[in-house]
Amino acid sequence: MSNEASTSGNETLTIRDNRTGHDYEIPITDGTIAAKDLGQIKAADDQPGIATYDPGFVNTASCRSAVTYIDGEKGILEYRGYPIEQLAEKSSFLEVAYLLIHGALPTKEEMDAWVHEITYHTFVHENVKSFMEGFRYDAHPMGMLMASVGALSTFYPDARNIGDPDNRHMQMVRMIAKMPTLGAWSYRHAQGKPFIYPDNDLGYTANFLSMLFKMSEKKFEADERLVKALDVLFILHADHEQNCSTNAVRSVGSSEVDPYSAVAAGVAALYGPLHGGANEAVLRMLRRIGSKSEIPAFIEGVKNGNEKLMGFGHRVYKNYDPRAKIIKKSAEDVFEVTGTNPLLDIAKELEKIALEDDYFVSRKLYPNVDFYSGLIYEAFEFPPEMFTVLFAIGRTPGWLAQWLELVQDKDQKIARPKQIYTGDRQLTFVPSSERWA
Ligand code: CMC
Repeated sequence: MSNEASTSGNETLTIRDNRTGHDYEIPITDGTIAAKDLGQIKAADDQPGIATYDPGFVNTASCRSAVTYIDGEKGILEYRGYPIEQLAEKSSFLEVAYLLIHGALPTKEEMDAWVHEITYHTFVHENVKSFMEGFRYDAHPMGMLMASVGALSTFYPDARNIGDPDNRHMQMVRMIAKMPTLGAWSYRHAQGKPFIYPDNDLGYTANFLSMLFKMSEKKFEADERLVKALDVLFILHADHEQNCSTNAVRSVGSSEVDPYSAVAAGVAALYGPLHGGANEAVLRMLRRIGSKSEIPAFIEGVKNGNEKLMGFGHRVYKNYDPRAKIIKKSAEDVFEVTGTNPLLDIAKELEKIALEDDYFVSRKLYPNVDFYSGLIYEAFEFPPEMFTVLFAIGRTPGWLAQWLELVQDKDQKIARPKQIYTGDRQLTFVPSSERWA
């Protein structure tokens, strides 16, 4: 796959400025025009050039990227060109992490070295432990994760040297390796349970489950089917091109800060209910609906604008989110091990009714990744506050792959959007002694 810009023949856009009568011819590259080319369009020489107004970047490309491809209309998701369905079925999370960061699948030697590196960086400095113990007893694990990832930058000050490829590699390995440790400890803290050190005999996901759930047993052995289901969930969350948290990582990373600080910004963005927090909201919604007979009344409320159907709709997917399809199947596999959850029946019925309703059909609102993922997490007995932490662990390789691409991209500049100023101008300041007199 090529990442080169492509223009051909008469790939231009002609714009007439009716204020001046001037015509401008602007090149079209890969279906986009460069926003800076609009800057030449001015009402008068001393006026600023035209800019675009695009809150939420709904129609603005912020970068060129070769990491993840999405066709939202067709419901296609590929990492480095490989369809998500194949990766979820046949790969492992660490192999997908390698693929995202290195851009190609590993050889046997590369994979062995990668797994070895990740495994041997799972421990964190003991001071991280005392730092995490200092949080309030009921601290939200996502807040703890965000702070701890940011704090890692103080343990690895060399991480600021982002121009050195070996150094970058080291920090990426550390972050992928330590995320489960930080995530599991955030959970144990809220439970009032002792922190469990990594068990390097275990695979990545099995070790995470051990750090979460081990008590007095010598070795924690999770059911293989559950390990596989969680590994698949990590794969499904590993990247999703320029979403809110990835944009946060890129935006903060564009200041050339160290990658721990940039990824902490990604964790912060993911914390919000419209992004990673949606699966928690789905469960609350399903519980509130309570039974299938209440679904029609709930749907009416959504259509009247009282609330949203959480876990439905997506900025990019105007079709069934391919991840939701895989998760729906995964949920059934997990429930075979853990026993079913009555909320699954409500979710399936809700999906069926919504997909037949013109409100949702006409707006192209389909289930997204979060519609079923919360149900699986609940089957693992994760409290809802942990759901976003799981998302963050899965998303870390994607954030890092995007960060790596950013720091090597000569086109990139420090992120600094324009604004349309709507406030007052040139007011005369009156001191408080006069204003309050
Ligand atoms: N329930 C009911 N109506 C909806 C929903 C929903 N979940 N989502 C969008 N709409 C309506 C919206 O009201 C609007 O209607 P109208 O045209 O009449 O004003 C229309 O659909 C277009 O929506 P939008 O708000 O312009 O779409 P957006 O691209 O800005 O928002 C979204 C995308 C994901 C924030 C939104 O669909 C939403 O809030 N969904 C529920 C929260 C959710 O499930 N989030 C998880 C997203 S996937 C995981 C991730 O990426 O983190």
